[in-house]
Amino acid sequence: MNIRIFKSADDIGKAAAMIFASQVLQKPNCLLGFATGSTPLPTYRQMIELYKSGIADYSSVTTFNLDEYIGFDGNHPQSYRYFMMQNLFNHINVKQENINVVSGIPNSNFEEVGKAYDQKIESLGGIDVQLLGIGHNGHVAFNEPSDHFSNGTHQVFLTNSTIEANKRFFEHADDVPRSAMSMGIASIMKARNIVLVSAGSDKATAIQAAVEGPITPECPASILQLHPSVTFMLDEGAASKL
Ligand code: PGA
Repeated sequence: MNIRIFKSADDIGKAAAMIFASQVLQKPNCLLGFATGSTPLPTYRQMIELYKSGIADYSSVTTFNLDEYIGFDGNHPQSYRYFMMQNLFNHINVKQENINVVSGIPNSNFEEVGKAYDQKIESLGGIDVQLLGIGHNGHVAFNEPSDHFSNGTHQVFLTNSTIEANKRFFEHADDVPRSAMSMGIASIMKARNIVLVSAGSDKATAIQAAVEGPITPECPASILQLHPSVTFMLDEGAASKL
């Protein structure tokens, strides 16, 4: 596990974007895994800069996102697909047909939807670099603390703490969807390289548990200790309890 500590969230973004750019330079048709939330935004801004300056070309890249709310289609402003379009995909030359966000259409056969998503990733050769954030409770994607590590892409029900954390993006806490589709821990662990970004001292306890604590599904991110190529990119606040 590599731990890299930066002065600011912007510096994390610059460094993480360089990892994605170098991946694309080495393997233009790579699979990239993306995350939503506030922490990845500086990374996306820098990826756009590297595209505009002609350094990174995303025309052959395929993308997969970690998760999606159930109940919103991709045009809904609170959907994660919409978030990704606004914050990254509309500003780089990734092809529309190469963008994958698991569908959160209500009343679907979620088991089938999840299985098909994982199979698509596998059939294209697996994710080369997966970007992750981390929740205050140690969740990754929507894999909440639990008594077991989840497997493939599946339906999840949000915990109160996640609803509480995500309500800042909505008018009312009641508007936060109660369920989502999320890549499972096993799907995430299959990525060849993982970059976890985290900024702010409010994440210090989660980072400490993930990096130094026991490997337990009570802190889903702790499983990353077993991954052969994971880099935690932190600011001083997030790293303050290490
Ligand atoms: P954040 O979310 O980047 O908005 O803090 C991360 C997460 O909850 O996974």
